[in-house]
Amino acid sequence: MVALGQCRQRRILRFAPMPLTLRAPDDFHVHLRDGAEMAAVVPHTALRFARVLVMPNLQPPIATAAQALAYRERILAAVPRGTRFEPLMTLYLTAATTPEEVQRASASGLIHAVKYYPAGATTHSEHGVTDLRRVYRVLAALENSGIPLAVHGEVVDPEVDVFDRERVFIERVLIDLLERFPGIKIVLEHITTREAVDFVFAGPERLAATITAHHLLMNRNALFDGGLRPHHYCLPLLKREEDRQALVRAAGSGNPKFFLGTDSAPHARGAKETSCGCAGIYTAHAAMELYAEVFEEAGALPRLEGFASTFGAAFYDLPPNPDTITLARTPWRVPASLPFGDGVLIPFRAGAECRWGLVHER
Ligand code: NCD
Ligand code: ZN
Repeated sequence: MVALGQCRQRRILRFAPMPLTLRAPDDFHVHLRDGAEMAAVVPHTALRFARVLVMPNLQPPIATAAQALAYRERILAAVPRGTRFEPLMTLYLTAATTPEEVQRASASGLIHAVKYYPAGATTHSEHGVTDLRRVYRVLAALENSGIPLAVHGEVVDPEVDVFDRERVFIERVLIDLLERFPGIKIVLEHITTREAVDFVFAGPERLAATITAHHLLMNRNALFDGGLRPHHYCLPLLKREEDRQALVRAAGSGNPKFFLGTDSAPHARGAKETSCGCAGIYTAHAAMELYAEVFEEAGALPRLEGFASTFGAAFYDLPPNPDTITLARTPWRVPASLPFGDGVLIPFRAGAECRWGLVHER
């Protein structure tokens, strides 16, 4: 018995990796919402990330520099006292956006991207642009200012199969955009396919991509696992296993064109569990822990810091963060639900285990 006990202990020592201390990471794609809902989710993000690129798809959208700066103040008011946290703001590109607005955004020093949603592509995208030709002057202003265009890369053509919309976007829109504006910096957000991985690898240096934890952890089977799973529904949709594997290879490759963007997108339980549910998966409560799981499984833990903490900052011309976080192999159970304004939200992995824990928050 004693020998067996010792043997077990040795196995645990051999297989449990050391705690992992990383330069504080940044999340280059997050939905923080507003009001009481925002107050419920900001602490999860601020414990893990030093800076976050805040998506502007509120209702009404954050479409002007003045709106973005006011939203930034509301976010800062929701940050736990004593936590240094920097929201990097974005503008929602609409047909009414002007080059002057881009100049105001750039002059503020607090707005770091313009977000392009093809109208109708996802949650609160109805104010997005239908025909990019209408905003060519704005894209030229972005090219001059150096502010990146963050792109929701899916076509909205109802003739195109929903699982093909990212691939077709690359063919029909992205290639032309990169050629027409040879100085524009583009981040293809939340990529989901092997084709997107290949395209970004092969593309110019000014083209990068964010990758979510949920697209690294799941394939589309998770949408129908024993029944319909609304909490695994997000846009772009989960794809095939071969696509997931391509994403894992890209994230763990050490190539600085691929960096962290959770696309954590909270919705109230009732808005997900209904006959026509909203798209969005909430991962902010366990974001770094989930990425650590993926990188560990891929044998790429030494490359997590680049993906999470340095590549995105370098692309956005930001200095590295001075502080650190520490993760360890301390399993914990995710709550079945979390408070969210007047209601609750169902977090990713609700009621199940997370292998990695956060042992030193920011
Ligand atoms: C996002 C949301 O809920 O705001 N949903 C999602 O499925 N990712 C919008 C988006 O980023 O597409
Ligand atoms: Zn998003």
